[in-house]
Amino acid sequence: MKSIAIVTSGGDAPGMNAAIRAVTRSALDRGLEVFGVRQGLQGLVDGTIEPLRARDVGGIIQRGGTFLGSARSKEFREESGRSKALRNLSKHGVEALVVIGGNGSQTGAFAISQMGLPVVGIASTIDNDLLGSDTTIGSDTAINVTLEAIDRLRTTGSSHHRAFLVETMGRDCGYLALMAGLAGGAEVISTPENDVPVLEIEQRLRAAYERGKTHAIVVVAEGAKNNTEAILHHFADNQAMIGFELRATTLGHVVRGAPPSAFDRLLATRLGVGAVAALADGEYGVLVGMVRSEVTRTPLSDVAGKTKPIRTELLELARVLAK
Ligand code: F6P
Repeated sequence: MKSIAIVTSGGDAPGMNAAIRAVTRSALDRGLEVFGVRQGLQGLVDGTIEPLRARDVGGIIQRGGTFLGSARSKEFREESGRSKALRNLSKHGVEALVVIGGNGSQTGAFAISQMGLPVVGIASTIDNDLLGSDTTIGSDTAINVTLEAIDRLRTTGSSHHRAFLVETMGRDCGYLALMAGLAGGAEVISTPENDVPVLEIEQRLRAAYERGKTHAIVVVAEGAKNNTEAILHHFADNQAMIGFELRATTLGHVVRGAPPSAFDRLLATRLGVGAVAALADGEYGVLVGMVRSEVTRTPLSDVAGKTKPIRTELLELARVLAK
């Protein structure tokens, strides 16, 4: 193999740039030619492919987002779109593809690998819902941003005897909410896997108030059935019941746009180098992830279209520790 391309796809994640840098420089070190694809899998369909040299990936390890750009591509989901992508790659003489992204992207990676292209995926999504990696690039940073928000809201909440709903991202997965809530000592954590009914939220906030707490934090995953809007609606007429005044903050894309933590840079670096090693070993159609601190290769067929469950027992732990 002489030439590879790198694409970042789906929602951007802090650490993607560090992964691009690691793939590029370790591939160049092995004498390979490297190309970058602009604007995600859609860029493959459109043919926005350009060479990457060592200097092109300089000064990006500390930057969030992805300098290559990203997009969600409907066209790539169709076989006709993927055929266009294959033609564009072969125009540039590209023989293999590294796909840095989360669930949807690795499903796309699997689909194009089934059409004969050597592909290696790198586990990268703030949601940390991918099988084949204990943790994914970007998720540590997103937890830290959510945690910082929780800490700040606790500070102001304490001054005013307020309870705060803090909604964080994660799509259908409650991992971010769970980890940030546990680390932030939240009184309630509600996730899609374990939706806390509004009446229980009311009781738990009331109990916290009666125990003499000066503030309370409810972390809500965006995918929870009772999302921030539903909870606020419930409390519109019931606020006096809980003692605290209730306010809400929705973090949204703020949790995605931060500079990568040291953990995410190191993870991205190891997985980037690991992806090139997999290609050099001729091991294709795999997701490169980190399992028990080791860089691993899991068949994309075991990853595509599936999600990793969260450890719901930690929700009970959070409840006990919020006493
Ligand atoms: O998958 C990453 C993620 O940030 C999810 O947490 C969130 O639900 C989604 O992407 C948001 O997507 P978009 O950036 O397209 O609004």
